[in-house]
Amino acid sequence: MKKNCPIGVFDSGVGGLSVFSQLVKLLPNENYLYFGDTKNLPYGDKTKEELIEITSKIFDFFKGKNVKAVIMACNTTSALTYETLKDKYDFKIYPVVQNVAKQIANEGHHNIGVFATQGTINSHAYKNEIQKYNSDINVFEIACPQWVQIVENELQDDKKSIENIKQHLDEMLKNKVDKIILGCTHYPYLLQTLSKFTPENLFINPAKYFAHSIIDDLKTNDLLNNEKTSEPIFFVSSNPPQFISSSKLFYDVKTAQEILIG
Ligand code: DGL
Repeated sequence: MKKNCPIGVFDSGVGGLSVFSQLVKLLPNENYLYFGDTKNLPYGDKTKEELIEITSKIFDFFKGKNVKAVIMACNTTSALTYETLKDKYDFKIYPVVQNVAKQIANEGHHNIGVFATQGTINSHAYKNEIQKYNSDINVFEIACPQWVQIVENELQDDKKSIENIKQHLDEMLKNKVDKIILGCTHYPYLLQTLSKFTPENLFINPAKYFAHSIIDDLKTNDLLNNEKTSEPIFFVSSNPPQFISSSKLFYDVKTAQEILIG
């Protein structure tokens, strides 16, 4: 695998840009390809079989681009497809849930909350992964099915959205949690709203943890690039203008190409 091959990053939409923006800051010399699967969004209510089919097509697309690694920025696909697909490709695959859960399990917390999509919550991936490393930690999981659409459609300041966000937060706070993982790539977009009701340092944005662990692994495997040869390229499966507009909070995407995969 050549060091100067690109790194692929994917998510169902703009959410993965929270991971992408961290990576670009920490590893500016890499060539990045970002795929936002806006046509199939939301992933959170899809079955495991549907997501395996979708993720396989995205991996095939990246394979055609000769990537050295693919970053599964999406929690839902990490939770539901990583185990099935992890050995089927010859590039490195980094899943967010498994990476982040391992780090959080070793931070000395007793009660951890997880906000995530219905798919991630039903899989109990965060709970299982965290308790694999420390079975004494209590993990409280709550699905927030409306939050992805709130972010994609920039509705975070709507009265109804704020009520919905507060309702899930109140339910979670009953568990006296030490930290709450924002276990969907879109949710860090809601940090400003969430922190109106409780201190911001209660929340964990997995993107920060994730980027550091990816860098460590690329270094260990001698896969870090020395010299960037291309600016990041953004692909979406539908509606590039909406993707560009919603992207602004995490990364200023200027252009995105619409592409059909599979
Ligand atoms: N952004 C994805 C995640 O991290 C899924 C959002 C969705 O499309 O439902 O779970």
